[in-house]
Amino acid sequence: MAGIVEQILSLATMAYQYVLLLLDICRLIFQTTILYITAIWHIFKPPPPKSVSGEIVLITGTGHGIGRELALQYSRLGAKVVCLDINEVNNNKTIGEIKREGGAAWGYKCDVSNREDVRAVSQKVRDEVGDVTVLVNNAGIMPCKPFLKHTPDEIERIFKINVFAHYWTLREWLPSFIASGHGHVVAVSSICGFMGTANLVPYCSSKFAIRGLMEGLVEEMRYGGRNTNIKFTTIHPFTIDTGLAQKPRIRFPVLNPITTPAHCAEAIIDGMRRDYETVCVPTRDYYLHIFTGILPNSVRKVFLDFMDTGVDEHDT
Ligand SMILES: NC(=O)c1ccc[n+]([C@@H]2O[C@H](COP(=O)([O-])OP(=O)(O)OC[C@H]3O[C@@H](n4cnc5c(N)ncnc54)[C@H](O)[C@@H]3O)[C@@H](O)[C@H]2O)c1
Repeated sequence: MAGIVEQILSLATMAYQYVLLLLDICRLIFQTTILYITAIWHIFKPPPPKSVSGEIVLITGTGHGIGRELALQYSRLGAKVVCLDINEVNNNKTIGEIKREGGAAWGYKCDVSNREDVRAVSQKVRDEVGDVTVLVNNAGIMPCKPFLKHTPDEIERIFKINVFAHYWTLREWLPSFIASGHGHVVAVSSICGFMGTANLVPYCSSKFAIRGLMEGLVEEMRYGGRNTNIKFTTIHPFTIDTGLAQKPRIRFPVLNPITTPAHCAEAIIDGMRRDYETVCVPTRDYYLHIFTGILPNSVRKVFLDFMDTGVDEHDT
């Protein structure tokens, strides 16, 4: 008798577990359908941009190019801008421009690849400006040559600036984001963070690393729903007209246009303000990446040969 009761109980438990699993699957299907529809809807009607007025935005690499434009444009939107660059002269020019426009900006000379420098400058920022609420890791270098021509020192330098600098600034500012439940991290990767490119092997791997860093952080912060108010945006620009890519090779400029730094900064800020996690500049590169990702490898290679896009070797 006891054996029969035990059997019935175990069958009932199993049935109960199956019902729970079925309900879970139904919920998953319902959730993903709604989110899918919302995502498609957002392609045509993007979510409204949040305000950055009053935010303290720290940007690295503000002396030139995309970083300079980001500083100017964030300031025009009412943010207090903290500008870090290893080149003090150029950085001061950016600060001067912001102040002439009536904005609020603070400039600091900082080698972001140097952990001690980042720590000391961050303390100064805390004392003189306050806690940063938006961190934009933008500074980067792009030596362009075949893999075996890169010296070991150069490879290390690429990783120190393009990757480790992100770690040092994040270690300074993420704790206050977590403590206040408010903050946004923007990382400038590259289209090279999506696809390997000849003459840019260390650069590509550094930009892939940024994607890993940001995706890992997103997962860690949202785990258990703990820090979902902290937002992360990774940027993947194609060629921007800053002089970084000195010899771009583009077969179809209509399909792969070179973007101005001003337009790139505009797209970065727009994506950040809408809390997008991934932003390509131009936007269509995102869909192109998805398209090439589903192609068989051999077809993908023929397609890439047809597009013939890349960078040729240059000296600096
Ligand atoms: N320009 C492009 O075509 C392109 C394309 C994709 C991604 N990106 C990325 O965008 C970011 C900005 O590129 P850009 O074209 O504006 O470059 P840029 O060379 O025009 O400006 C980079 C700025 O960073 C500063 N910098 C360099 N090393 C530094 C360090 N150790 N510490 C502090 N500041 C430092 C430089 O002084 C300079 O002011 C980079 O991460 C780059 O990889 C650029």
